[in-house]
Amino acid sequence: PADVENDLVRLLLTEEQIRGRIAEMCREIERDYAGEDLLLVGVLRGAVMVMADLARELTLPIEMDWMAVSSYGSGTKSSGVVRILKDLDSDLHDRHVLIVEDIIDSGLTLSWLLDNLRSRGPASVEVAALLRKPDAMKMRVDPRYIGFDIPNEFVVGYGLDYAERYRNLRGVGVLAPHVYSTPSQ
Ligand code: PRP
Ligand code: MN
Ligand code: MG
Repeated sequence: PADVENDLVRLLLTEEQIRGRIAEMCREIERDYAGEDLLLVGVLRGAVMVMADLARELTLPIEMDWMAVSSYGSGTKSSGVVRILKDLDSDLHDRHVLIVEDIIDSGLTLSWLLDNLRSRGPASVEVAALLRKPDAMKMRVDPRYIGFDIPNEFVVGYGLDYAERYRNLRGVGVLAPHVYSTPSQ
């Protein structure tokens, strides 16, 4: 929608750039998991778009499952305390698991999730994330597949939200400060 364009300072990644990079990531994943059964675990809600595109681009047999987690503590997501809002339906025992994320920001969500899933006896757990902010990382995580390293700015689109909006943008853009610095309504 036209009004949404005014909320972005600039477009960081176009739909085409994202599509191209996801295809490259898929070729790597196909090489690494050839002959294996793979369970993709999407982290709701941000990972919905990257999961949908990654899963359809992959030529491997895959399953998809979903988890919803929430950070809490003093209203911000920086506490590193995570709780499960919706757990996986799948048993991870002896499975090859690939966590699919839209973005690694501080790394807190993912580092907790990796510990949690690794305790369930999987054959392997790796991470595919479309975006990473190297300058925002507080917890070291080593994702096997990364789409783009981006600057430490407030980005939205392609699953990423601000107050639940903008997830449906086809590209990824930097949100204009006026959107989050002025009171709404
Ligand atoms: C966002 C994003 C990642 C996480 C990254 O999710 O989708 O899951 O934050 O941040 P971190 O590296 O600092 O932990 P959010 O908690 O906003 O939920 P959402 O996916 O529903 O938007
Ligand atoms: Mn998320
Ligand atoms: Mg969010």
